[in-house]
Amino acid sequence: MVKAVVLGAAGGIGQPLALLLKANPLVTELGLFDIVNTPGVAADLSHISTPAKVEGYLPPDEGLKKTLTGADVVVIPAGVPRKPGMTRDDLFKINAGIVKDLATGIATTAPKAFVLVISNPVNSTVPIVAEVFKKFGVYDPKRLFGVTTLDVVRASTFVAEILGDLSLSKDVVVPVVGGHSGVTIVPLLSQSSHPLPSGLAKESYDALVNRIQFGGDEVVKAKNGGGSATLSMAYAGAEFAAKVIRAVKGEKGIVAPSYVSVEADASGSAALTKELGEELAYFSSNVELGTEGVVKIIPLGKVSEAEQALIKAAIPELKKNITTGVNFVAEAY
Ligand code: NAD
Ligand code: LMR
Repeated sequence: MVKAVVLGAAGGIGQPLALLLKANPLVTELGLFDIVNTPGVAADLSHISTPAKVEGYLPPDEGLKKTLTGADVVVIPAGVPRKPGMTRDDLFKINAGIVKDLATGIATTAPKAFVLVISNPVNSTVPIVAEVFKKFGVYDPKRLFGVTTLDVVRASTFVAEILGDLSLSKDVVVPVVGGHSGVTIVPLLSQSSHPLPSGLAKESYDALVNRIQFGGDEVVKAKNGGGSATLSMAYAGAEFAAKVIRAVKGEKGIVAPSYVSVEADASGSAALTKELGEELAYFSSNVELGTEGVVKIIPLGKVSEAEQALIKAAIPELKKNITTGVNFVAEAY
C-alpha cells in the first residue's frame, strides 16, 4: 500500500502529475491538496480505472491534515511560477512562505513521509523544509529530496537531438549535478552514456551546456507570461516519484538524481566534499534509494576540465541560495 500526496495539485504541474501518479499501479491512495479546485480534480481522476483511491481537499476543515494523513510520499509543486524576465530566486518571496507552511503540515501530520520538493527556487526551498522539520524535531535528511529530474530529462533529450536520433533520448543518461537554477545546473556531458560526436566544436558544446542550464528560460519565454514548464515537469516529477515509490516497496539498487542534504550519507558526502574542494550543505548528485530513503550519495567521479570550471562557478551561488533558505526559517520563528 502506498499513499502518494500532491500539494498544489490543481496547478499546471499538479494536475498532470496527479494524473501520472493515478496511472502508477503501485499507488493505492492519492491525496490531492490545493487552495482551489481539488475536489473537481479528484472527482475527475477517480474515474480512471487504476488502483489508487483519490481524495481531494481544500484548506477549510483541516484539508491539509486530511490529505497528509497516512502519506508515504509527498510531492510539492505548490507555488507561483516564473514570468519572462524573472529568475527562480524572484519567486522566493512568495514560495518560501507557502513551502514553510506546507512543511509544517507534513512535520505535524506525516513526519515519516518522503518529501519531494518541486517548488522553486529548489536550491532554497529544500533547506526551508529541512529547517522546519528540525524545529519540530522530526528531520531525517534521508527522506528529503529536491526534484532536479527535469534537468536530467532535458539533458537526455538535447544530447539525443545532437546525435540526430530522438529515439535515443529514453536511453541517454547524463548526470546533472549541483543545484536547480542557471549556473548551478552542471551537466557532466563527459559521462554521457552516449558520447557526444567526436570533433564537436567548442561553441556547440558551450551552447549545449547553456541550453541544459537555461532550458527553463526557453519554456518561460515560449509561454510568454503563461508560466513555466508544467508538462515536462510533471513527466519528470512522476519519473522521480515512481523511483522513490519502487524503493519504498523494497526494490534495491535504484539510482536517481536529486538535490539532497549531505547529511543524508556521511561517507558519500565526504567523498563529494573531497571532489568539490569544499563542503556544501546540499548538493544534487545521483543518489541510491532504499526503503528508508537515501542509501548513498554517489560521488561525481571523473570530470573534465570544462566541467570542473562549471562546478567552481556553481558553488558560490549554491551557498548563497542555501543560506537564504536557512535564514528564512530562522527569522520566521
Ligand atoms: P501553477 O501556478 O500553475 O500551480 C501552482 C499551484 O499551487 C496552484 O494551483 C495554486 O493554487 C497552488 N498553491 C498556491 N499556494 C498554495 C498553498 N499554500 N497550498 C497548496 N497549494 C497552493 O504553477 P506551476 O507551473 O504548477 O509551478 C509550480 C511551482 O513549480 C513553481 O514554483 C515553479 O517554479 C516550480 N517548478 C519547478 C520545476 C523543477 O524542476 N523543480 C519545474 C517547473 C516548475
Ligand atoms: C524549469 O527548470 O523549467 C523550472 O525550474 C521552472 C522555471 O522557472 O524555469
